[in-house]
Amino acid sequence: LPILLLNGPNLNMLGTRQPEVYGSHTLDDVVSLVERTAAEAGFGVQALQTNHEGVMLDAIHAARGAISGIVINPGAWTHTSVALHDALVIPDVPIVEVHISNVHARESFRRHSYVSPIAAGVIAGFGVQGYEYAVRRLVTLIS
Ligand code: DQA
Repeated sequence: LPILLLNGPNLNMLGTRQPEVYGSHTLDDVVSLVERTAAEAGFGVQALQTNHEGVMLDAIHAARGAISGIVINPGAWTHTSVALHDALVIPDVPIVEVHISNVHARESFRRHSYVSPIAAGVIAGFGVQGYEYAVRRLVTLIS
């Protein structure tokens, strides 16, 4: 079963959005990186980026039974969404949380995550390369 790659709000703007914080790679670069890394381990990838919380919740519900694990950068929903926390439990698969920036070195409101308590682990501050690490760890967890 494929890996589900989820990117939350504003991550469609990667590459042009605060490049000093998030770097110059685009969302397409991220999806390619994740696809390449997953393919090395024999996994396909289902990728979704959305700025609409309900769209992400629906996608997570639909993924139940159809994916082997989740790599998610929830963007700002990390810090706000109990609904996302609740949805992510439903597929009952391992979850790796990714942040491009080091959320602990920024504003204090970025230090709390509603996703971390249900994640197998969290990767933050390594730029888009964090997605590669996340996939490698997820593959270890599901293989
Ligand atoms: C982010 C960090 C969040 O605090 C922020 O709201 C984002 C991106 C990151 O990848 O560093 O949108 O998840």
